[in-house]
Amino acid sequence: MIKSKAWNWNMVADDDKYWNLPAPEVYYLSENWKSKGFNELLDIGCGLGRNCIFLAKNGFVVSTFDLSEKSVQATTQKAKEQGIEFKDIRVADMLDMPYPDSSFDCVLAMNVISHTDKLGFDKILNEIKRVLKPGGEAYFTVGSKESYWYNNPDCIYVDDYTKIRVEDGPENGIPHFYINDDDCKALFNDFEIVKIQNVRELTAYGNFSPHYHIWLKKSR
Ligand SMILES: C[S@@+](CC[C@H](N)C(=O)[O-])C[C@H]1O[C@@H](n2cnc3c(N)ncnc32)[C@H](O)[C@@H]1O
Repeated sequence: MIKSKAWNWNMVADDDKYWNLPAPEVYYLSENWKSKGFNELLDIGCGLGRNCIFLAKNGFVVSTFDLSEKSVQATTQKAKEQGIEFKDIRVADMLDMPYPDSSFDCVLAMNVISHTDKLGFDKILNEIKRVLKPGGEAYFTVGSKESYWYNNPDCIYVDDYTKIRVEDGPENGIPHFYINDDDCKALFNDFEIVKIQNVRELTAYGNFSPHYHIWLKKSR
């Protein structure tokens, strides 16, 4: 299994607009999960805190972690300034989540759990299943094999799903796991599928960034 590597958030401005506004899907998820009576929420890989702070403000009891110390410091500081308290926030690795079995009604991971290889991805899916309560749900994104980066010959091959990005930015040297439609059908058999979408987003850098948005449920 490839070694985990945190983002270098020192290369991103603290007030960067993209990383400070909640992901659009999170507004809908917040309503959907509240309507199901979900309360205990885990945000894997908090980054600069855009999603976990929004969800805590919306009444969820939020635990979160990130491998990056800078992420955890920045998120803790922002939450404090906004009068938000998390149930738990700490530095941790998603390969080995520091929570007991069946702790959460819902788990969110926006642009996080693809930072590993195939062995790591399988382990993280098991971890998500372990920490979810029966009937709980997970929503996460995974890069598509149609992506520019998956097909870039400068990126370093790890396995048929995984490339290490070589770039002059915060993701330099970080593994990325990519999937296609067939992989979607094969990888998530341990869960019920709520919804899977293939989203092609035009980025600020002028290229399309295709991601799968995966919404799963742990059976009761
Ligand atoms: C693209 S950022 C997304 C941050 C946040 N989820 C958001 O949407 O704003 C990916 C985050 O995952 C974290 N990360 C990468 N590998 C990790 C691991 N093994 N365990 C926990 N966090 C990790 C990085 O440090 C970074 O903060």
